[in-house]
Amino acid sequence: MEAPAIVTFTTIADQRAWSRAQRQAGKRIGFVPTMGALHQGHLSLVAKARAASDVVVASIFVNPTQFDNPEDFAKYPVTLDADLQMLREAGVAAVFLPTKEELYPDGYCTFVELVGPLTDKLCAAARPGHFRGVATVVTKLFNIVTPDVAVFGQKDLQQVLIINRLARDLDLPVEIQVGATVREVDGLAMSSRNRRLTTAARAKALDVPRGLELANRAYLKGESNSLKLTEIVYNELLIHDGVEVDYCDVVSLKGFAEKDTADDSCVLAVAAFVDGIRLIDHIPLGGPGIPEVVVDE
Ligand code: PAF
Repeated sequence: MEAPAIVTFTTIADQRAWSRAQRQAGKRIGFVPTMGALHQGHLSLVAKARAASDVVVASIFVNPTQFDNPEDFAKYPVTLDADLQMLREAGVAAVFLPTKEELYPDGYCTFVELVGPLTDKLCAAARPGHFRGVATVVTKLFNIVTPDVAVFGQKDLQQVLIINRLARDLDLPVEIQVGATVREVDGLAMSSRNRRLTTAARAKALDVPRGLELANRAYLKGESNSLKLTEIVYNELLIHDGVEVDYCDVVSLKGFAEKDTADDSCVLAVAAFVDGIRLIDHIPLGGPGIPEVVVDE
């Protein structure tokens, strides 16, 4: 059967007008913000948004303000035609595709910044300014799309916690939902960056979920020293040339505090460069382990 039509908007005014019309028609709007280069993980967020709304909007915008490294921004994969096809088949009704000039016109100088424990460790410490860019663009997208519900991926754990906090602190009228991490059959968490991995790099990248899994098993057998748990991940990853660990930490989801002694409130989170490509992943300690959701592409 032919997939239903999809509309695209590049201006804020057009996206707003469409959202207003949906609202006037009594429709509940679901929203999945993305930076494109879509994969099954994004589609699982679309499915979740569809289940929670009447019409789903996705956005595709590689947001320059969240990249601390210009080279990383320049190399971010762009696959627009394939993305639109996937979104159409997944039942998305509209796609917002703003240009950089539309969202950040000349003279732009307003940013949204969170303070406190959510923004002083892990990716926030490793990528200064990253979450300021994410919080800013997500606030802008919420104001433009006016969703009732927005869905983000659990893989970007710190991002999800920050957006949840942001929505609460700024009284944004949007419900934030979280979609489980989707993995490939061998355990690698799906990420738009995976498509930049060569076959050799991809093999090394598998040690990210493997290291996390081994550490979780050690925790389940009684090892609660955070340093020892992170050492397991380091040992798994650093056997390879071209792999650099950006951070590996045990953090409690209660207060987002770093813990010397791990407990069941903690996740073990890692970011590593594999042949220059930055991958992140995490595992809830004491849980069933990886995989959480597996998709065979
Ligand atoms: O997770 C992402 O793809 C991005 O950080 C987001 C939420 C679309 C903001 O640019």
